Order: sequence, then C-alpha cells, then structure tokens
Amino acid sequence: MRSPIDSYLADLHADLLGLSSGAPYQGIPAMKDADNTKFAIAMATVDGHVYQVGDAELEFSIQSISKPFSYALALDDIGLDAVDEKLDVEPSGDAFNEISLSRDTGRPANAMINAGAIATISLIRDADAPRFERILAHYSAAAGRQLELSDSIYASEALTGHRNRALAYLLRSFDIIETDPTPVLEDYFRACSVMVNARDLALMAATLANGGTQPATGVQVMGKEAVQRTLSVMTTCGMYDDAGAWISAVGLPAKSGVGGGLIAVLPGQLGLAIYSPALDPHGSSVRGVAASERISADMGLHFVRAARLGRSAIRENYDITRLPSHIRHSEAATKLLAQYGERARIIELAGDLLFAGTESMVREVSELDACVELVVLDLRRVDEVDKIAVQMIHQLQRELAAESRTLALVQEIPFEPLASLRSFPSRNDAVEWAQATLLARHGTADMVPETVAVRDFAALAPLDGADIALLESLMEESRIEDGRIIRRPGEEFGGVYFILGGKVATSTLQGGRAVRQATLSAGMTFGEIALGGEGEQTTRVTAVGRAHLKVLSAASIARLETENPGAALRFWKAIARDAYTRVEENIKDSSYPLH
Ligand code: DON
Repeated sequence: MRSPIDSYLADLHADLLGLSSGAPYQGIPAMKDADNTKFAIAMATVDGHVYQVGDAELEFSIQSISKPFSYALALDDIGLDAVDEKLDVEPSGDAFNEISLSRDTGRPANAMINAGAIATISLIRDADAPRFERILAHYSAAAGRQLELSDSIYASEALTGHRNRALAYLLRSFDIIETDPTPVLEDYFRACSVMVNARDLALMAATLANGGTQPATGVQVMGKEAVQRTLSVMTTCGMYDDAGAWISAVGLPAKSGVGGGLIAVLPGQLGLAIYSPALDPHGSSVRGVAASERISADMGLHFVRAARLGRSAIRENYDITRLPSHIRHSEAATKLLAQYGERARIIELAGDLLFAGTESMVREVSELDACVELVVLDLRRVDEVDKIAVQMIHQLQRELAAESRTLALVQEIPFEPLASLRSFPSRNDAVEWAQATLLARHGTADMVPETVAVRDFAALAPLDGADIALLESLMEESRIEDGRIIRRPGEEFGGVYFILGGKVATSTLQGGRAVRQATLSAGMTFGEIALGGEGEQTTRVTAVGRAHLKVLSAASIARLETENPGAALRFWKAIARDAYTRVEENIKDSSYPLH
C-alpha cells in the first residue's frame, strides 16, 4: 500500500510546483539555463528508507552542499584543533562568496562560506591517494553509490571563478593555505562539480543524521565528533545570510547549493533533500526553502521540539490468532478464525507519535501483507500524539478503506482529533470486533447463529436425543433484560446455563472497575466454572441485549444424580469433554497476556 508519507510528499510537491519565483544560478554558463520545472523531494530515515517524489534521480551539481562533507573529512583527517587553527566557527551573516576573513589572522569565518570551504580543501590529506580522489570517495560513501565529476561544470567553474581564485590567493597571503593555492582551488571547483541527485543528497544528509554511518550500507563514513561539529556549523552558518530566519522557521541544520540542491538534517532521525534550480537572493532553492518550511511545520521537525524522541514507536505487531479468544465460538467458527485470523493485525505503539514514531508506524502499516484486512492500532501506551500523527492516521484510514481494508484504534480515553475513527476501549473489544468482522466476511451465517436449540448445543453433542430431552425437561427458562446481572462473584455453583439466544458478557472486578473478559453467545454455556477452584463463581455475568436462557439448576442436577445416575454421569462426561475442549483453545501463546 502507498504510504501516507508518500501521499503527503506528492501533495506538497504538486502544491509547490506552482511556485515560480527566482532564477537558476547565472554565475556559471553551464547552469544558467537549468529547467525550473524540475523539482524533487527526498527523505531518508536513519534506517535507510527513502521516500522520494518528483525528479529525485535527476542529477545536478552538488555545489556548496559539498562544503559540510569536505569539512567533516578535514576534521576526521587532522582533528578538530588543527582545523580550528585555520578556520573559525562563527556565522558571518554574509553572502556565500563574501570575503569574510578575520582582519589580523585571515581565518575565514566558517567552513560553509567559499573562503572557508577553499581553506578546508587545503586541510584534507592527500597522502595515500590524490586529494580529490579521497574527496570523491568520501561523498560517494555518504551517498552510498559511486558519484562522478561533471567535466563541463568543472570547466565552467574554473573559467569563471575569479572571485574564488582571489579568495584562495588571499588565504595564501595569510598562510591559511600553506601551499600553492592553484591545486587547492582546482579541487574546490571539482568538489562543487560532483553530480548528485536528490536521493543521494537525502542519504548523505541521513548519514549526518545517523552519526556518520551511512544508513543503507552501514559504512562508517565520518567520525562522531566530526559529525557533531559539522552539524553545529551547518546550524549557525549553513544558510549564510538567511541563517537566522531559517533556523527560526525550519529549525534544522542545513546546507544549500547554487545547483538548486538543499539538505536539512534532523539528528538521529532523518535527512531531507530538495532539488529545484530557481534560487532566492541568498543562493538557495526557492522551492527548497518553501518545502523545508512546510515539511518542518507539518511534521514537527524543528529540532527544539523533535529532538527528544526515540524511534521505536512499535512495541509489537501480531495477528489475532496469537491471542486467546474471549468469545466462545462454534467449532466451525473457531476453525475459520484459525484460518483467517492472520488477516487481522494488532500493532501496539508506545511513546510519542511525533515525526519518527509516526513514520515508523505508517511504514509498518503500509508494508503489511495485502491479505491483512483489519488493522488495529493499540494507542494505549502512546503519550503524545502530534498533528502529523493525527493527519497520517486519518490518511492511513482512507488509504486502507480504498482497498476495502479497515483501520481501528484502541484508546482508553478517545483522543478528540481521532474521535471520528472506529475505536475500542480495550484490546479485547477490538479483537471481538475483528473476529466478528472476519466471520461475517468469510464465514457462513450458521457460524454465528442467532438462536440455538438445546438439542444443538456443542456441549451436549455426545448425548442421545432421549438424554437431551430429559435434561431439557429439567431446565428452567428465562429471558433476561440488557445489563441485568445473572451471576455474581462469590456465588456457589448455581447450575449450567444454556444461552439459546442473545449474548452475555463475563467480567471481573479490578480496582472497583468491571473489566470485560469474554462475550458468550447462542449455543454456549456458562456457570460451570464455579465448580472449579474455590468452588464459587469468580466472574460477573451480565446480559448484553436481551438474553434467552435455560438453566439446569444445581438442585435439578442433584436430583438427577439420585434419580437417574446413568443419565447424570453421561451429562457430566459431556460437560467435562466440553470444558477440556475450551481449555485447549485457550492454551495459546502466553507471551501475549490478556489486557
Ligand atoms: O564557489 C561557488 O561560488 C559555487 N561553486 C558554489 C556556491 C554555492 O553553491 C553557494 N550556495 N548556495
């Protein structure tokens, strides 16, 4: 099934395609005619799942998005202190190509502006392999595939990069660059000319989000300290003279490039990448900024808010055959449920349903086998439900319904924004509903009969017609109104009750509250359990709707035992056989306790 996150991204993409302000980068001839109808959004989670929409596999030059990855490589190569000697970590508040060098030392303000990025290149080792080979291998490892250099973009950069050339010589004059600036500059141009697509960038951003380990390949591409420092500098400096507005509106470490790419990182959770070539006056993709603002607001990604959550929202995911049935079914119905029970799944969630929890939840549901018809989200252990979760749960319901599948929730106290969805106060109620739905869809009407005559009771099946007629003649008939209590805890054995029509519910008292245990319907018996254990009734039995009963009272049974011991023995044998049949049905996986 299509994930609601894909639907969300597709809607957002369609919406923002109409945004036509800005123009592609004019500074480099090879880029100025970029097609502004191109637009991609990609999102990679730290476990390597990528959502993508639009032209996500269309390549463009990485440009300044190379800078954080070069910076991390230099940090890993020579250590934080050695890098800090050459480069500051202060936001310059200037444009990307400003000459932001310290007046006396010549240190560039940070590694995200051109001056700092050129200095960064000079710090990358070229010991075991030529420097640019190492740079390209590093970017490729973060993307999870071999990236290539565009010769034409590189030629254009080298031809027009006079300001960068001036910056490199200025850095040389201050001894920030200690070698010939030309090869350094060439590698900087090459670094800007590496071709990527939005999917690559999302995975590169997710590598930063994942502490330096590429989420799909599992390769440790960067050290943790380098990642922490890089994300810090991206937070304060990644968006140049737009950094303040960006961090207020989006609240994620980010980097843009004049190629039209933009990445944002939610540490621990997600890498986001957008591509669209028209730029704003800061040199950032117009649609990239707009999409980031919308995604951050809609999904609650601002780091101040999102940082506290972990990923694991899913506690358990199992089908209803793993649970003991709380409804006594006929033999045929029990068989059918054993066969079809895997079509109803319970997903237990816990913690906060903000972005990460919601994402893992919708992915779990979207990837359920197509045979699953009923999906129950058990929300009882969920603490906070963010608006993204509300939106996605409603969307899941619609997507499931479109495939004739049904979503239901378990919530003790219904949460207002989810109140319109089918909800049950306990898992038992949800399972009852799931069983009834499966029986209605796949069973036959006689599997859940409205009424059952005494002679057709499964419990009495071993007896012949004469015995059954004798027993029935000893029974008292009653009709009980909805909600009336039939048996109370503590009462002595009062006889065997046969349900001819309607339903009864059994419940136990826990902390002064009646907790529903099971529902029994026509064809089933109750009352015999009082014979076991303490020798008294342990549950409360209440009529659900109008119940039609016949009871073979304890006194009648006692009379039968003296007057017709043979018939009494046959009766008890039948009752014992029925009881053990039920015991067998209930011995199921005990790792799923009843609640
Ligand atoms: O060096 C330059 O100016 C370009 N190759 C890269 C600039 C860039 O991407 C700035 N980011 N928005």
